[in-house]
Amino acid sequence: MSANKDLRLVDLDEEGVDRAFRESVLKGLGESQKAIPARWLYDDAGSQLFEDITAVPEYYPTRAETEILESRDKEFAEAIGPGRAVIEFGSGSSVKTPLLLRAIEPAAYVPLDISGDFLRASAEELGKKFPGLPVYPVEADFMRRVELPQAVTDMPHLGFFPGSTIGNMVPRTAVDLLRTMRETLGEGSKLLIGLDLVKDRSVLEAAYDDAGGVTAEFNLNLARRINRELGGTIPVDQLIHAARWNDDFARIEMHLVARSDLEFEVGGQRFTMRKGETIHTENSHKFTRRSGATLLLAGGWTPVARWLDKKDRFSLILAEASIPRSAP
Ligand code: AVI
Repeated sequence: MSANKDLRLVDLDEEGVDRAFRESVLKGLGESQKAIPARWLYDDAGSQLFEDITAVPEYYPTRAETEILESRDKEFAEAIGPGRAVIEFGSGSSVKTPLLLRAIEPAAYVPLDISGDFLRASAEELGKKFPGLPVYPVEADFMRRVELPQAVTDMPHLGFFPGSTIGNMVPRTAVDLLRTMRETLGEGSKLLIGLDLVKDRSVLEAAYDDAGGVTAEFNLNLARRINRELGGTIPVDQLIHAARWNDDFARIEMHLVARSDLEFEVGGQRFTMRKGETIHTENSHKFTRRSGATLLLAGGWTPVARWLDKKDRFSLILAEASIPRSAP
């Protein structure tokens, strides 16, 4: 995931403050359960911290998904076939995308990302690794239908959405996105999507609260960002990072917990927190085979193949934009 730092897509006020960020934070801090959308975790510092998280020993998803892509290349080639335009939702990560492209002999690669800077950098890097492959970067918000470059419209499409990023959305938003992806890619397209799996709660809580404190820094960075960009006075040293498994909703939640009763200002407004009260900053939903299939079907995608890593921690699902034949 990249930081939303391309000025062309950010609406700044006279003082250079991102209006959407301010609105979202003020609204979220005013709710009875304080909550700030997870997208605001990713400023430059937050994006770097997320990269660091992917390397900590407890955070298994990146390594598990990479292992699947590395070890099942022949099966991907067979299930997906050559000659597709690969449309990646989010700019290609340095490791995963080349593994997929190498396995399936694509006809073109189209990275979609809201951040132009990030997009151009990763498209260039990929171009060097695959000299013969046409690369058409598109700067766009993929939460909305995207017009694909004309050069790939007649090719069969494969959407690629790794990392279980869909798990950061509540089901309603996740289904909206899957439907939008279907509109972007078209009937008959395929989608290869990473879904992290439900597992022992201690493994999950450790993955989101590593002993080295990198995830804690990632979470606390949001409070620092609010102070810096919105003139906030949040006493960051009075907040503790917490990662909690919510069994009803099958998700890890990140919270910032007040160590004591707090009073602070953000954007000229006053807020209070009682000791133990939290600001909810992220959801990371985990899936079973069935819940993953249900989510995909609700979004108009029929799962056709599923691959797991050796320790059964993470899944990559291949789905098709077609109505299941069994539908009465
Ligand atoms: C980006 N996303 C899939 C990560 C996840 O696992 O939900 C974000 C993250 N948050 C804390 N650690 C990693």
